[in-house]
Amino acid sequence: MYLIHNAAQLVTVTSGGEKLKRGKKQGEISLIENGSVLIDGDKIRWTGRAIDFNFKLYDNVKIFDASGRVVLPGLIDPHTHLIFAGTRADEFALRISGYTYQEIAKMGGGIMRTVNLTRKASRWELVRIAEKYLNIALKNGTTTVEVKSGYGLDFENEIKILEVAEELSSKGRINIIPTFLGAHAIPPEYTDRRESYIHLVISMLPDISHRKLAKFCDVFCEDGYFSPVESEKILTEARKCGLSLKIHAEQFSNYGGTKIGVKLGAVSIDHLENISDSDIEILSKSNSIAVLLPGVSFFLNYKYPPARKLIDSGVPIAIGTDFNPGSCMSLSMQLMMTIACTQMRMTIEEVIVASTLNSASALGISNIAGSIEPGKRADLVIFDVPDYRMIPYFFGESHVCAVFVKGRMVFPPEEEI
Ligand code: NIG
Ligand code: FE
Repeated sequence: MYLIHNAAQLVTVTSGGEKLKRGKKQGEISLIENGSVLIDGDKIRWTGRAIDFNFKLYDNVKIFDASGRVVLPGLIDPHTHLIFAGTRADEFALRISGYTYQEIAKMGGGIMRTVNLTRKASRWELVRIAEKYLNIALKNGTTTVEVKSGYGLDFENEIKILEVAEELSSKGRINIIPTFLGAHAIPPEYTDRRESYIHLVISMLPDISHRKLAKFCDVFCEDGYFSPVESEKILTEARKCGLSLKIHAEQFSNYGGTKIGVKLGAVSIDHLENISDSDIEILSKSNSIAVLLPGVSFFLNYKYPPARKLIDSGVPIAIGTDFNPGSCMSLSMQLMMTIACTQMRMTIEEVIVASTLNSASALGISNIAGSIEPGKRADLVIFDVPDYRMIPYFFGESHVCAVFVKGRMVFPPEEEI
């Protein structure tokens, strides 16, 4: 047993049995001053004030002294494209000189550039590259990460990417939720036969679902990628195969993805930079969660999604990195928190809920993760600051000093303690 003892602030984000927090509750974090958490195996057994912990009740308790520090539920990144080969620093340079993301894609860069490199990479190489990224995520306090395919865009390579995710997940250092994003772009070999590519994506679904290679199916619903009609077709088939749904919606234009997502009962609708007021209304009446990606607008120097309007309309918000080589080369949820506060006007408490309980909900795991409550998985982060507000305030630094995943300290590695 492990006792994380006497934290200056234990931020529990207690859910009270709810799956997520929306509206005013999006800003309720629940805080215990001088708090402790008892970990038993891979679960949280007890939380409370340090002075109320009864040492006599338990044998063999190993103590982690959290005095002067802040403890939060492990951060949950609900949207990444983490498995890819190569980088695109040259495109970053082009963007700085004035080209847009879409112009670069038309010039032969963008998603297809990474697809070509990822197709050439072996499983082993992809595991090695992705492991490096996962370690960075862990060091920055992320204990669960959603990982999408989408840089294979043919049968063999999409399966290869999902198998890489499966292998990384089996190592158990970090929790992984895999998503099938075969509908990320139409590969050039199908430009003149879009229908055939859509058929190919649909034909992959039964196998992916049967082998549990993905929990979610996602579609990039955007001008130049997949239309609302095509997105609906793919997601409808995915749902029939038992996959839960996500959709990239309204990133570069108000294109109709939100309506499709709500209609099909998507667990989350992601991006929303160009969501309209009428779409906000539709979304607020649904059970879907808005996953906002502050790092993308920051990195592309593009408009931010209307987080305030969404929250005030009662839409539950989660935030993620969207980690990918084109639109957000960052795995830091701490940085996403800062950007969400300063650029999207979310409160510090709202971004904490958005990175924990609500992002767990966006992955359908808020019954086991996303808050510090007895019975939940012992995924915890300890920050070397005395006040949780320091985390987004003192930005560009990682304040993480320890990370527990399933009750095991995975950062820092034992030898560094
Ligand atoms: O979420 N929107 C689609 N896909 C990514 C970008 C992927 C890439 O540029 O490689 C995104 O922004
Ligand atoms: Fe994305």
